[in-house]
Amino acid sequence: MTHGETAVRVRWRPPAPVPRDAPLGLLASIVALHDNPITTWTKAHFEEPIVIAPSVLGTVAVLADPAAIRRVFVENTANYRKDDLQKRIIGPALLDGLVEAEAEQWKTQRRLMAPLFTPRTVASFAPAMAVAAEDLVTRWLRLREGRLIDAQKDMAGVALEVLGRTLFSDGLGRGTEDFTAAISRNFETAWRVDPLDILDLPAWLPRLGKLRARSSQKFMAQAVEDLVARRKRLISRGEAPHDLLTLLLEARDPETGEGLSNEEVSANVVTFIGAGHETTANALTWALFLVSQSPEWDERLAEEAARVLALPVEVQAEQLVETRAVLEEAMRLYPPVASMSRQAEGPDDLCGRRIRKDTLVIVPQWVLHRHRRLWTEPDVFDPSRFLPGARERIDRFAYLPFGVGPRICIGAAFALQEAAIVLANILLRFRLELKPGHEVRPVQHLTLRPKGGLPMILRRRSRVVRARPVEELQPSG
Ligand code: HEM
Repeated sequence: MTHGETAVRVRWRPPAPVPRDAPLGLLASIVALHDNPITTWTKAHFEEPIVIAPSVLGTVAVLADPAAIRRVFVENTANYRKDDLQKRIIGPALLDGLVEAEAEQWKTQRRLMAPLFTPRTVASFAPAMAVAAEDLVTRWLRLREGRLIDAQKDMAGVALEVLGRTLFSDGLGRGTEDFTAAISRNFETAWRVDPLDILDLPAWLPRLGKLRARSSQKFMAQAVEDLVARRKRLISRGEAPHDLLTLLLEARDPETGEGLSNEEVSANVVTFIGAGHETTANALTWALFLVSQSPEWDERLAEEAARVLALPVEVQAEQLVETRAVLEEAMRLYPPVASMSRQAEGPDDLCGRRIRKDTLVIVPQWVLHRHRRLWTEPDVFDPSRFLPGARERIDRFAYLPFGVGPRICIGAAFALQEAAIVLANILLRFRLELKPGHEVRPVQHLTLRPKGGLPMILRRRSRVVRARPVEELQPSG
């Protein structure tokens, strides 16, 4: 490869909708918000620190200014609660879970679950993550060379498998495929921005997406009920593993002695299964796509994997420096959570502009991570921005794949560790090629995924690196 060719590759701009010159009209924005919200952003959003405008959602302030974001998410959090629109979209079943809970309910739950996400506990999950990755690779190795797979589906499978081996440590009690299909269907149907939700029409009016999700929601409700019943039996026999589910069921308020309600337990089981696997799966899927378009990074990651996967599993994730840089760049260009929102409880000032009570404040990672004032060559794939030496120069409030402040993603370290281990194990053995002629298009359906999945062709690496046997990956004791 000549130097000139390298320069062209480094400047590759992965697919993204072109920012609009002007905002959409009322009807068109209702349609676009339902179909794919990332297509609604205008050039002004990518160029200005704040854009305040009346919209179909009421007065909306779109923020891309680090200081203003700090004010909303850290300094003045009491004034900004999770907004009604996201509560309507997520639906009543999840309101009592950690993602949507507010005030004391949120504080109690977050305190309760924190011990499962300390650096030490997350590191102890590394062997289980490596076993799940190894299982996937072993399954792929059994397929014939050149076989077409849907990387999106397989990443969802491996991420769910990880949850079933860690936070729900005796498994989810159902076939992984049934689970991923049910959850995926919810993301595509029930958890979409419904026109009736945008217009704030009464909850008793049936939402088409929610109707289409009825069978998958029934499946989930039954699966959760079985999971909880089985675990209660283990608890009563003193045989329960120490994991998220046991914690949820055994938690007692130190003052009142009361436990979580059945609704809170169920909401959190679904919250953690949904929030804990679809997002990580999407980060992995996007990373696989980006690497497949960059022979340079594909080669660098394969070499790093060969070196680092020979080390003890507990230290692998931190040593996978280039792999993590690619994952961070993937989450910059394609943030799995592509926007966050809050509602102002009272007036405030942001970027010298007056924010009125009830304003919907949106921080779209999709916009922030490609903002013209915050990034050089914002649309270019360049993982070296996240390599040590450069990473430290990125403003803490300009890059928010996991959010920020008290409500920052509780699973951030868990997700990064899992994604690094899985990506390295895949790239050690395989090179993935995008199916010829397939057009990759990002769509935001609660999370950001490639429309219609990601069809990839599996190619074994010609330079075979010895795979470590699964037994070696088990914790040493
Ligand atoms: C790449 C993977 C992930 C991404 C990009 C991601 C992103 C996010 C973001 C942006 C938020 C903040 C939302 C807001 O402030 O409005 C959040 C919250 C949350 N995430 Fe994640 N997440 C990921 C993985 C996980 C995992 C693996 C788990 C659990 C095992 C998880 C569980 C949660 C929970 C429970 C919350 C709510 C926290 C709270 O409000 O206290 N996430 N996530």
